[in-house]
Amino acid sequence: MNLYEAIFVRKSVRKYSMDKIDQNVIDHIMNFADSIPMLFDDIKIKLELVQLADLKHFQSGILTVKAPYYLVLYSTKESGYLINAGNIMEQIVLYITARGLGTCYIANLNLKDKVVEEKEYEQVIAIAFGEGENEVYRQSDKAKRLPVKSIAVFKEEADKNIRAIVSAVRLAPSGMNGQPWRLVVYNNRIHLFSKKSGIIKSIVKETRLIDMGICLAHLLIAAEEMWLEGKAVTLSNISSQNFKKNDYVISVKLS
Ligand SMILES: Cc1cc2nc3c(=O)[nH]c(=O)nc-3n(C[C@H](O)[C@H](O)[C@H](O)COP(=O)(O)O)c2cc1C
Repeated sequence: MNLYEAIFVRKSVRKYSMDKIDQNVIDHIMNFADSIPMLFDDIKIKLELVQLADLKHFQSGILTVKAPYYLVLYSTKESGYLINAGNIMEQIVLYITARGLGTCYIANLNLKDKVVEEKEYEQVIAIAFGEGENEVYRQSDKAKRLPVKSIAVFKEEADKNIRAIVSAVRLAPSGMNGQPWRLVVYNNRIHLFSKKSGIIKSIVKETRLIDMGICLAHLLIAAEEMWLEGKAVTLSNISSQNFKKNDYVISVKLS
């Protein structure tokens, strides 16, 4: 299974067996994670693998899933760091999924024993992972998602590659399944906007830009599968356009 195929079977897994994973598999995951390029050159990240067994003070909470392993992403805070974090973490999630293991994002993993101490780094997002206690795959028609017509506007007739890319974007996971992405497809470009958050969202951790990075990962992985080159760019003429109730995030040029 490759990353593209993993998009269609991934789901959040919240029940784990506490068994250790083969060290070879862990090494492959960490090597893969280290090989992913940053979306923007000046951002630095650190990935820390944390084992539940090593945590002296595990803080279980209603939104914190108990799992044998956690991967925590820390980042410096240059512009675009949240999108970058989502884009990287989702590639790791899909890689782990393709290896037959379960994953679940955790917005607020409370590590009392701070792993990365440096001031310039912020703990951005974590995932839980391990052997699932039950089935770790789900067919894509069972995923609760908005229909394509609610998330994408096609300014011209879209070919089958573009439609396949949009279908992959639609399946991206998001904090509280908020699905903030809105797409405008035109002239071999997909412009990504994010829906402005509502009142409820302001009481939980703001994950919208992380979600946008996750959907960007799906877009770029699907483009590659279609043999298209996808280049993420920020277009100033788009960002100034007024698209009601949405913020412009980034565009992808396909060639
Ligand atoms: C940025 C982000 C943060 C999330 N935080 C949590 C969390 O703290 N706890 C949890 O159980 N699920 C969390 N999730 C998982 C979402 O609830 C889940 O992805 C969404 O409901 C869609 O379901 P699916 O992943 O099964 O497709 C998070 C997902 C994302 C993308």
